[in-house]
Amino acid sequence: MQAQALIDTANELVAPGKGILAADESTGTIKKRLASIDVESTEENRRAYRNLLFTTPGVEDFISGVILFEETLFQKADDGTPFPDLLAAKGIVPGIKVDKGAKPLAGFEGEKVTEGLDGLRERLADYREAGARFAKWRAVIDIGEHIPSDNCIDVNAHALARYAALCQEAGIVPIVEPEVLMDGAHSIERCEAVTARVLARVFAELDAQGVLFEGMLLKPNMVIAGKECPQQAGVAQVAEATLRCLKRYVPAAVPGIVFLSGGQSDEVATAHLDAMNRIGGAPWRLSFSYGRALQAPALKAWSGKPDNVPAAQEAYFKRAKCNGAATRGEYSEDMERAA
Ligand code: 13P
Repeated sequence: MQAQALIDTANELVAPGKGILAADESTGTIKKRLASIDVESTEENRRAYRNLLFTTPGVEDFISGVILFEETLFQKADDGTPFPDLLAAKGIVPGIKVDKGAKPLAGFEGEKVTEGLDGLRERLADYREAGARFAKWRAVIDIGEHIPSDNCIDVNAHALARYAALCQEAGIVPIVEPEVLMDGAHSIERCEAVTARVLARVFAELDAQGVLFEGMLLKPNMVIAGKECPQQAGVAQVAEATLRCLKRYVPAAVPGIVFLSGGQSDEVATAHLDAMNRIGGAPWRLSFSYGRALQAPALKAWSGKPDNVPAAQEAYFKRAKCNGAATRGEYSEDMERAA
């Protein structure tokens, strides 16, 4: 039965001790990441970098799934194995980013709507054929003096639900990602209020469009003060505010919540997840779907040099292990210092 397969995959992605690697940087974003280590963004360099991550020995103990960019889904590892097959052979579920990016929302200055619905049914069939079993669509909500508008939240929620329904029709688990950005000087209270509005609309749309909550995952931001806010909240406050907000708006039928890191430093993102799991009592599994917070130390260690591959893999393995422990509320700072 298709519904049962969706439910099984969603649960597999949030298995205890494991979480997701977001390695689905679009062509523009990966160019920026590679430029930060003085590496040119050629197709081969992008492939070599992803090859390094995906072939890291033992990482499958902490990584349940990897989100790929379309180009990567059709690329091959050094030994000629297609990346989705390589991941699947390690017991890691291959996933695919399917949105076409956030574009300016006509008539609403400073706000964005994520595009990519046209032709999505056909693309999903191709991705499924290539081995993808889950997908991601990211909506972006910016906080400013007069934003977000209700309209920006509505159109993004509507698109997320249309995407999710199409995924489930294709037998692909949708990760629904409404990201309230950390950019700006807003307080943690403002972030909580906006996140609440967004989640309420997103779940109303998912429900209205018949999405099976048991066969999806939510990928939200944590409730956190803006980067330029002088009053930064501590780990305990972020954990409490995030859990409070999610408990109010996320149905217990959703099997798991996999956070994005959104610009938090790697160790802070781990500490926040750990603190939430220590509080406990949540109706869903709380895990990670980090991009930067899993990759930043590995990218730096690699710096585009083949000799550095083992050191880069070690750095990625360490972040995966620390975050795996955080999904159980068993992370400690000693793990950061351990060899
Ligand atoms: P970050 O963890 O770097 O925010 O990336 C996660 C992601 O996939 C954003 O869409």
